[in-house]
Amino acid sequence: MGLTRLPGLLFGGDYNPEQWPEEVWREDVRLMAEAGVNLVTVAVFSWSRLEPRPGSYEFGWLDRVLDLLHAHGIAVDLATATATPPPWLVRAHPEIQPVDAAGTRLEFGSRQGYCPSSPVFRAATVRLARAMAERYREHPALAMWHISNEYADHTAECFCAESARDFRRWLQGRHRSLDGLNAAWGTSCWGQHYTDWTQVEPPRKAPGPVNPAQLLDWRRFSSDALLACFEAERAVLKEVTPDIPVTTNFMSVLRDLDYWTWAAAEDVVTDDAYPDPADPRAAVKAALGYDLMRSLKRQPWLLLESAPSAVSWRPVNVPKDPGVMRLHSLQALAHGSDGVMFFQWRQARYGPEKFHSAMLPHGGTATRQWRETLALGADVRRLAGVAGTGTRAEVALLLDWDSWWGLEAPESMPSDRLRLHELLLSWYTPLHARGIAVDLAPPGRDLAGYRLVIAPNLYLCTAEHAAALAGFPGRLVVGPFSGVVDAADRVHEGGAPGPLRDLLGVRVEEWRPLPDGVTQEVVTADGTALTARTWTEWLDTSEATEVLARYRGGPLDGRPAVTRRGTATYLGCLPEDPAPLLDGLLTDAGITGVTGPGLPAGVEACRRGPYLFLLNHGAGPATVPLPVETGFTDLLTGRPLPGGPVTVGPRDAVVLEPRPTP
Ligand code: GAL
Repeated sequence: MGLTRLPGLLFGGDYNPEQWPEEVWREDVRLMAEAGVNLVTVAVFSWSRLEPRPGSYEFGWLDRVLDLLHAHGIAVDLATATATPPPWLVRAHPEIQPVDAAGTRLEFGSRQGYCPSSPVFRAATVRLARAMAERYREHPALAMWHISNEYADHTAECFCAESARDFRRWLQGRHRSLDGLNAAWGTSCWGQHYTDWTQVEPPRKAPGPVNPAQLLDWRRFSSDALLACFEAERAVLKEVTPDIPVTTNFMSVLRDLDYWTWAAAEDVVTDDAYPDPADPRAAVKAALGYDLMRSLKRQPWLLLESAPSAVSWRPVNVPKDPGVMRLHSLQALAHGSDGVMFFQWRQARYGPEKFHSAMLPHGGTATRQWRETLALGADVRRLAGVAGTGTRAEVALLLDWDSWWGLEAPESMPSDRLRLHELLLSWYTPLHARGIAVDLAPPGRDLAGYRLVIAPNLYLCTAEHAAALAGFPGRLVVGPFSGVVDAADRVHEGGAPGPLRDLLGVRVEEWRPLPDGVTQEVVTADGTALTARTWTEWLDTSEATEVLARYRGGPLDGRPAVTRRGTATYLGCLPEDPAPLLDGLLTDAGITGVTGPGLPAGVEACRRGPYLFLLNHGAGPATVPLPVETGFTDLLTGRPLPGGPVTVGPRDAVVLEPRPTP
């Protein structure tokens, strides 16, 4: 089965008909059919229109919307509409509004304002989800359930008294006793020893740094509290409509939620991605997010929201130049999405998002935007065969949310410049530039099948993580400041990398973070000079450890900077560009990019099933050397291409299907 029961790729966007008179709906569905839209997300923020008074539902308008869409061959990703509680609920129960770390209760008037731990809020969402499921269980347009919206957006955590109670229950489940909690949190430090559970609170704003172990548990709890909201609704939907796939839209590389755990609770992974057209690194950041989405369930996923052009929530909202919407959409397909969806279908006339772009802009159909929407719909139809196909990656980057949360504890680390997203990007960027497929994986996952596994950082490392890595037969790379603490954020005694010491054959004596702007030279055994920034370490090596690179100059002059024991490499520093090290590892592991060497700068190359996507993000044409033995058909143009080099125009793409040459 595909992501839904619909054939081919999905194409469409968020549709908010409640913001428009009904005569506009008829034009909407006519234009949707013209553009080839086959799926729309409906009712995301409609709670106050569906249940305007407690327990009194007004489904008539939504019935008409779903009927109309179905009559035009358009399926529905139906939201449970629970993302924003309605005014009557908030006025009757002000306690469901979230409270920030400083104790301020946030007001009604925006969206996603709720305390995830509120029993009143959760019960109200479950009631509405049940009413929705019972109402639309047989509706032929219903293709997918969309629970809530972007969990953790606007409100990732709530510090109210109810959340505190829920946090204590969660802590009792994890630590069993108060003694267990005191030990795990190291409460002997700074006089925090608890003698009663009621004394335990969320890590609210305090005079100085909060207990990092408490903060780590808080971040785990906050992800789980939102997940409990999702799971409560999911249970109802599965009971009433067991065959309809359930999702909630993720937000790419997001620190707040442990997406490994979340994805396991979903049928389909969906993502909202808003790369900034003004950001020169937009393409590579988007690609990393897409590869994460594909890796979460190791199956195709769906780009559920993206911007046709400008967004409305950045300080400066730069539009997409001609061709960029198409290129970014094809990029998501290249990385495993089974469709292209946008926020939103018709540009709003009012509200905070009235300047956010849409598939159908204020100017109507006589616009560049609309012409590009139509053309993209046609491209998506041409690529129908891509649906359901997979990606085979030989490289995995390790990502662990516990470790991420621990690493980014404020005001208590040797340096606050180690940010996991950037560390992932530092390895992902050169891999992406070489056309090498990359999966993301949690450290405990079975890594069989990969030839190279890179842990850019594993600050928090348990014995189980270490055992999984020790059992991995391929090439392993571990980045600095890894193996530092256990699951409770307690430092591994004897020196980092703690449980990885034997495997890596190194021991860190001292962390030596570098101030901003200061660099340290590192020279490899063959004389290649690298520049380290941000971080260096004083390493001791065991006898069986080979030194691949040493520091030159400064207090670490001559000491090991990069080491290898067996097939495991350790970096005690952060090279500005790890490419020279990476190339050696790739050669050793026998890994090449999907087009072989020589991918021009700015070109992205991805293989998905039998198809080869070449995406040129650059401003000039680029020629990609391809083997001469195979001829291709470009699915986007239908053009047959002989084997050999292929030229891709600026901001253009080809999707090549191999064609045996006669
Ligand atoms: C997303 C959200 C959408 C819309 C969009 C605008 O975060 O889910 O409802 O607001 O951003 O870019």
